[in-house]
Amino acid sequence: MDYPHVVEQVLSAVQPHIGAGQVADYIPDLARVDPKQFGFAVATVDGKVFSGGDVDVPFAIESISKVFALALVLSQRDTKIWDRVRREPSGLAFNDLIELEIEEGIPRNPFINPGAIVVTDQLLADTGDAVAALRALLRAETGNAHLEVDSVTAESELRTGDRNRSIAYLMSSFGNMLSPVDLALDHYFRQCSFSITCAELAKAGLFIARHGVRADGSRLLEYGDTRHIIALMATCGTYDEAGNFAYRVGLPIKSGVGGGMLAIVPGHCAVAAWGPGLDPKGNSVAGGVALETFAQVSELAVF
Ligand code: DON
Repeated sequence: MDYPHVVEQVLSAVQPHIGAGQVADYIPDLARVDPKQFGFAVATVDGKVFSGGDVDVPFAIESISKVFALALVLSQRDTKIWDRVRREPSGLAFNDLIELEIEEGIPRNPFINPGAIVVTDQLLADTGDAVAALRALLRAETGNAHLEVDSVTAESELRTGDRNRSIAYLMSSFGNMLSPVDLALDHYFRQCSFSITCAELAKAGLFIARHGVRADGSRLLEYGDTRHIIALMATCGTYDEAGNFAYRVGLPIKSGVGGGMLAIVPGHCAVAAWGPGLDPKGNSVAGGVALETFAQVSELAVF
């Protein structure tokens, strides 16, 4: 595959869309990000990185962290998480409460906020420190020993997190929280606030493309676990636009309201795109165009 050519094509297709969309403003710290930035990186399973644009500018990982939290929970070889969260697309916004009430505190999937809070709560119970477990994983896979939670973003999430609090208390009322709500949410808000660059995000996702094998050659997950993560990314990874992204891009993707998107091409590469401007559902406008172009040019889509 001529990845430099693919990256060039992506950068040129994205150009008219850079700055399009709205930065997430429900988290005040994200509203301050300059929307006219864009980065794109492909990390291949043999360890090369091809990239362009603002590829070394850090941004908030937000919901893309949910993939890594789930991977760590699955790495415990413990299937009880699936008694606490289902594996169906929700068709509703990532912070919806109505479905959660109707379905008695069991979230539809691990990538909407209720499901992600359950996963973080489980990781906290399994490890004693969910953020530390994530930090260790992200540092090891990216090779950045200084990768860290942005405390300003975390504070901003905490201050404006009443909807997530409502979600967590509702789940607690149904007996679906292990830790006290405030503690689990503290870990959830900080996990969403990891500051990561596009190039790092692509490297971080490589263990999924390698079917569970980490950067140091050790195994984090079994083949089946990564198959499950990939399936959830494809069906639930772009909020209630997963169908449209399967159609447009045809790759498993997880997005975050920081404007990042991580796509996996199993056995080939991990692809990261970042543009802070979001569409009304919360997915990066430029990121979507980038991944669509990547799929068309590389012909690596799985659908
Ligand atoms: O909890 C929130 O609303 C943000 N920290 C994360 C949101 C996000 O990226 C979309 N979530 N699925």
